[in-house]
Amino acid sequence: MKHLKIKISEAIDFANLTIDAFDTELLMCFVKKVDRSYLYAHRNEFLTKEEKIYFFELVEMRKLKKPLAYLLGKKGFWKNDFYINSSVLVPRPETEILVEKILDYDLTGKELLELGVGSGVISISLGLENHKLSIIGTDSSIDALTVANINSKKLNSENVIFLNHDWNNKWLFPKMDFIVSNPPYVSKSELIGNEDGIWFEPEMALFSDDAGMTDIKTIIFKSINFLKNNGKLLLEHAPNQAKKIVKEAKKAGYTKIEQINDYNGLSRVSILS
Ligand SMILES: C[S@@+](CC[C@H](N)C(=O)[O-])C[C@H]1O[C@@H](n2cnc3c(N)ncnc32)[C@H](O)[C@@H]1O
Repeated sequence: MKHLKIKISEAIDFANLTIDAFDTELLMCFVKKVDRSYLYAHRNEFLTKEEKIYFFELVEMRKLKKPLAYLLGKKGFWKNDFYINSSVLVPRPETEILVEKILDYDLTGKELLELGVGSGVISISLGLENHKLSIIGTDSSIDALTVANINSKKLNSENVIFLNHDWNNKWLFPKMDFIVSNPPYVSKSELIGNEDGIWFEPEMALFSDDAGMTDIKTIIFKSINFLKNNGKLLLEHAPNQAKKIVKEAKKAGYTKIEQINDYNGLSRVSILS
């Protein structure tokens, strides 16, 4: 195998023994810099030595459950492909619910703060949807902000600025119409053992103490002082945190609490005002 010349179809069949067939095709397209129709039309084409080595290296990493987004360097979110590397969380489809919900409001001339931007998917998607919405996006990770800025430049988003800020430190923001966050909310102790891929993601993007509630609580309690009259805090969370969020929100002084289900019918987003 090491010295053998190998055709596209043979490499794909071999990879399919260990990883998902769709992932195999995407990796082959990535290595060959072609689309899927090219693969079907050129099944008998031989891979170069470099292509063969690179392809099987990627297959090996996928076998170890490294997320496809890190191998391909991109992930689709809302209406665009975003650059992704291992300093940021791989954006999840359920996070699009936050975007969808915010777009239900009249955003023209409004100000929005995102806490924990990661790759920038939420802020940039919102900014591109409404050019008259002013957005400040923050993260405590400089590496994440670098990725967010790359995406902002790539997608020409002009109404978003990214700042380095840790929400455990002092907040010096003006009052906002909207504060939005998909904070770390996974409880490490509640992992069930089949979440292999997440070990490739930054721990600070995923885990929070106190059954995943520590960062959520900080954001709930601090945000209320940075919302304008009728301002709203929108938070993504785990379904089993929904009741605790209601309790914390009331304690912090929010009077209106709406909770939205995800595509599996599980409570995933809370809107506090
Ligand atoms: C779950 S990720 C969300 C990333 C992105 N918004 C998304 O939805 O894909 C949480 C983000 O919060 C950031 N973060 C964690 N702790 C933070 C803190 N104390 N202050 C500011 N940002 C923090 C992480 O670096 C990470 O980028």
